[in-house]
Amino acid sequence: MMRNVAILGAGIGAQHLDGYLALPDDFRVHTVCDQDNAKAESLAESAPGCVAATDIEAVIGRDDIDIIDICLPPHLHAPFAIRALQAGHHVVCEKPMAESVVAAHEMIAAARAADRVLIPIFQYRFGHAFAQLQALIDAGLTGKPQVASLETHWNRGADYYAVPWRGTWAHERGGAVLGHAIHIHDLISRLFGDVTAVSAMLDTRVNPIETEDCAALSLRTASGALVSSSITLGAADDRSRLRLVFEHLTVESGTNPYAPGQGTWTFTARDPAHQARIDTVVQAAPSSHQGYAGQFRQLALQLDGQPHRNVSAESGLQSLELVAAIYQSNRERREVGLPLAPDDPYCRNWQPS
Ligand SMILES: NC(=O)c1ccc[n+]([C@@H]2O[C@H](COP(=O)([O-])OP(=O)(O)OC[C@H]3O[C@@H](n4cnc5c(N)ncnc54)[C@H](O)[C@@H]3O)[C@@H](O)[C@H]2O)c1
Repeated sequence: MMRNVAILGAGIGAQHLDGYLALPDDFRVHTVCDQDNAKAESLAESAPGCVAATDIEAVIGRDDIDIIDICLPPHLHAPFAIRALQAGHHVVCEKPMAESVVAAHEMIAAARAADRVLIPIFQYRFGHAFAQLQALIDAGLTGKPQVASLETHWNRGADYYAVPWRGTWAHERGGAVLGHAIHIHDLISRLFGDVTAVSAMLDTRVNPIETEDCAALSLRTASGALVSSSITLGAADDRSRLRLVFEHLTVESGTNPYAPGQGTWTFTARDPAHQARIDTVVQAAPSSHQGYAGQFRQLALQLDGQPHRNVSAESGLQSLELVAAIYQSNRERREVGLPLAPDDPYCRNWQPS
């Protein structure tokens, strides 16, 4: 079934538009809305029949829109998502889903009350290598997760922080932990189980910003596995890497920073006698749409009531609980257990006082 989409925000919204255009049987981008009219018009021109708008409230008030797709700065996600859900729209929301754990709970409650779908964007989950690894897990060839090392080593400088909301607690609501490494932490939660404990050291060492741009994290997951996550925005180039050690299999990702699942991964059996079987499963893994188009295809299946692998709103919430626990661990200089108690003050606000 065809559904009409309005994209709010014409920055990363351009990549969302490309994702919808790759699925012409599922979606039509009806409106691009940005307070900067020139940006809205320029992006709207790239989709057939798409119109530009500058007033979000007017767009939310329309009854010919099925999906509101929020690509605005983080402090605007929860307020506009809740308004859109209450107006009867499904909502797609860029990461971070909300500015706090409490705000994410409020979004989920609004979606339930309106009986509408709310999905956070974690498009890194959609790539061929993840389909290969999932096939190995489904075939029982990995064994239990043991350890992993994660790298989010990117390069961000003055140009990037010239956009006024970035690097500020008031608008971005966090730094590299919230804005950049949130993707790789979502991936490890999905592959190794939810994070149950974290010890964090954060610092601002690269740019003159309020929020953190470097981190060293130790995590334990529900499977008992131990994970190290190294984060910086001061690397010479942009690379993300995962090295995942399972009981029977060691997995090494490529280094594609923004689509790690689209690179070539290696899958090495601990017992060489099992390598041929692993290679067979990897080669037979299904291919499908990747990145944003991959997630939007799952959204179409979800809205049609079909089996799907879309990201749940609860995954968005959990990613924010981990962020809250990381900030708490760093500030209180101690290991923090997850999930956080609902009345934990970091669930309401993790910003420094
Ligand atoms: N999933 C990813 O890989 C990924 C990548 C980049 C950004 N993001 C996320 O996407 C969101 C947007 O980031 P961005 O880089 O596109 O930012 P951006 O600043 O480039 O774009 C945001 C746009 O929103 C518009 N805007 C702001 N307030 C508005 C308002 N009240 N009404 C109408 N328009 C308004 C701005 O004019 C701007 O064009 C952030 O949450 C960011 O974390 C996600």
